[in-house]
Amino acid sequence: MKDILIMGIESSCDETSVAIVRNGREVLSNVINSQIKIHEEYGGVVPEIASRCHTEVINLIMKQALKEANVSLEDIDAISVTQGPGLVGALLVGVSYAKGLSYVTKKPLIAVNHIEGHIAGNYLTHQELKPPFICLIVSGGHTHLVNVKSYSEFEILGKTRDDAIGEAFDKVARVIGLGYPGGPKVDNLAKEGNPNIKLPVTHFDNLDFSFSGIKTAVINLNHKVPDINKADLCASFQIAVTEMLITNVRKAVNMYNSDKIAIAGGVSRNSFIRKSFDDFAKEMDIKVYYPEPVLCTDNAAMIAAAGYYNYINNERADLKLNAIPNLKIGE
Ligand code: KG4
Ligand code: ZN
Repeated sequence: MKDILIMGIESSCDETSVAIVRNGREVLSNVINSQIKIHEEYGGVVPEIASRCHTEVINLIMKQALKEANVSLEDIDAISVTQGPGLVGALLVGVSYAKGLSYVTKKPLIAVNHIEGHIAGNYLTHQELKPPFICLIVSGGHTHLVNVKSYSEFEILGKTRDDAIGEAFDKVARVIGLGYPGGPKVDNLAKEGNPNIKLPVTHFDNLDFSFSGIKTAVINLNHKVPDINKADLCASFQIAVTEMLITNVRKAVNMYNSDKIAIAGGVSRNSFIRKSFDDFAKEMDIKVYYPEPVLCTDNAAMIAAAGYYNYINNERADLKLNAIPNLKIGE
């Protein structure tokens, strides 16, 4: 069978990325231009600056992606792009660019949901992974528990009712003075601490999550006890949020009698969360999958992987494609 090469374009937040992926599974190139250094100064992503930076670099990143993959635009079978969810101005840069490229090259245009992209990140790391499985998406903007029924059918089992887990990590890091983005910094500092501070965990009857309570508790505690041991606080925060995640994943695994789960999104880089899910998988006698670290945080290879499955499913977008900042999974 002829190889299918998909170009992925991602610009939903503060990473401009273009990738080339073969047959939905093999990364030929994955060029990522992170704006972290620029937004660091402001303690978080400034949407207007993000859009401008995407515009400045996207064409160069596309050329670099072709070069690293050692292919030309002619060789590409389709162009896939993140349609949403994300920052509207940031998404529009990728969507407009992809539409222009599709028009000029006459290559099909494929719209990809960013969250479905995160799930597909796992297909690039684990060739044997096939649906159905339960996937926990934990990122800066999302916390979703999803039943991945097939490559194109998704059932949301639960999601956060307030903050995303990554937002809580970033906020905790900010209040204790670790800077942005906070996730990796909390992860590192927690290694030196003991989880001896009691923090509130929130559970619901269904599979939803909530992280605003624990976030507020950390903010208040840090305010009331200025000399609190920050490493202990990070370790305690991680153990509490991980308990919330595992509780719901356990319920989902039991409900669906699953033999495998996947974790995805930026927070799935967290070393404590990975270790805890490894232990959980052993206890439950199931398999757990995570993308390799660079494919956990935002990147275009995951968009190309998801785009490949949309492509073989005959899903096509046209030049009327618009960015949808609150696009729901499965739409
Ligand atoms: O998936 P992602 O790049 O963007 C969204 O789609 O939101 O995720 C970014 C999030 C940020 O909140 C960042 O702090 C978090 O992932 N993150 C981590 C780690 N690395 C990145 N959180 C916890 N531990 C980490 N090691
Ligand atoms: Zn993301």
